[in-house]
Amino acid sequence: MLQPVISGTGVYTPDQIITNAELVQTFNAYTDKMNAKNQAAIDTGEMEPLGHSSEEFVFNASGIQQRFVMDKTGILDPDVMHPHLPQRSDEEPGIMAEMAVDACIKALAQADRNADEVDLVICAASNHERAYPAIAIEIQQLLGTSGFAFDMNVACSSATFGIQAACDMIRSGSVRRALVVNPEICSGHLEWRDRDCHFIFGDVATATLIECKEDATGDHFEILSTRCLTQFSNNIRNNNGFLRRSRPDGVKDRRDMQFMQNGRKVFKEVLPIVAGHISGHMNDLGIDKNDLKRLWLHQANKAMNDFIGRKVLGRVPDPDEQPNILQDYANTSSAGSIIAFSKYSDDLSPGDLGVICSFGAGYSVGSVIVKRA
Ligand code: COA
Repeated sequence: MLQPVISGTGVYTPDQIITNAELVQTFNAYTDKMNAKNQAAIDTGEMEPLGHSSEEFVFNASGIQQRFVMDKTGILDPDVMHPHLPQRSDEEPGIMAEMAVDACIKALAQADRNADEVDLVICAASNHERAYPAIAIEIQQLLGTSGFAFDMNVACSSATFGIQAACDMIRSGSVRRALVVNPEICSGHLEWRDRDCHFIFGDVATATLIECKEDATGDHFEILSTRCLTQFSNNIRNNNGFLRRSRPDGVKDRRDMQFMQNGRKVFKEVLPIVAGHISGHMNDLGIDKNDLKRLWLHQANKAMNDFIGRKVLGRVPDPDEQPNILQDYANTSSAGSIIAFSKYSDDLSPGDLGVICSFGAGYSVGSVIVKRA
């Protein structure tokens, strides 16, 4: 079997930032407006007034300080509370494809490869801006890659599941070189009017170039093993879909047409699954926790990452052993662990071992064990 390696990664970061202060100011202006509008119902007890959000809560509950977004004007308008992303003509590149191409070009440059040497593009993301044709095929055309391309969605685990799919094809010889790309416009499916989650997400795109070890010319990480796991749960769910107009009230402004979660349950149920998954994967490869140099975890919540790091290593990890980027990017769904890997892997020495792990809706968990070559 051929040995897959990661020879390049790229991150596209939008140029607009929303700080917690801006976020909370808009949210509180929105709640004040709604409460004033519904004053009569609040007075009769028919309706509970909406509560304010606070910067302290957001930072303490999540570790997030800011997020990058594709459009802040709509999100920060209390009368809008979602991004404004104008419809493009069918002849223009789609917005997801455009973000993805930027990240892919960076990954190709790092590996010193041309696009036409790539024969697979997987666009692995938690949402796709249209049903078809696949965003991945548009990316293939914009970049000029050969072979084939397809979209896949395993929510926050899309990147690691995409890496496993690409690795399996490289191992078996059906493709030679693959780009797994994760354009995430989370601001489009976040309910910015919901106090419990309005602070969670941000936008970004990441790309990972995977090729055969014998082809890699520069620095790279050998992919020793990949492992995926799923277990059904409704605790992170979005009911938006192609049957929307066929359902009574389907096209109404319904809460369940955006990201919804039972955050407490997610916290409690997902953490043991993830910690057990990583430890089991390492055990099966004969890797001791003391041999692990780095954990690049999904970037949803600082407390979650602290817990997983402690469980896997059996002690409190040093900050450089388990780097977080969520304070700057917030939760960027599938892209989070790849941003962490891209920004915090150069300093590892040949032979050093690390785990990329993403997890989330499904539930789903994917782990990729890598060794610096
Ligand atoms: N500002 C101020 N107070 C807020 C608030 C906000 N924005 N949002 C919620 N609160 C209040 C709640 O009403 C609650 O008040 P109460 O105790 O009087 O009932 C209190 O703060 C605690 O709320 P809770 O939702 O229990 O907070 P939490 O500490 O569990 O943190 C999450 C919430 C979402 C950060 C946390 O559950 C979490 O990280 N879950 C992981 C899931 C995740 O991030 N998933 C993404 C996909 S992987």
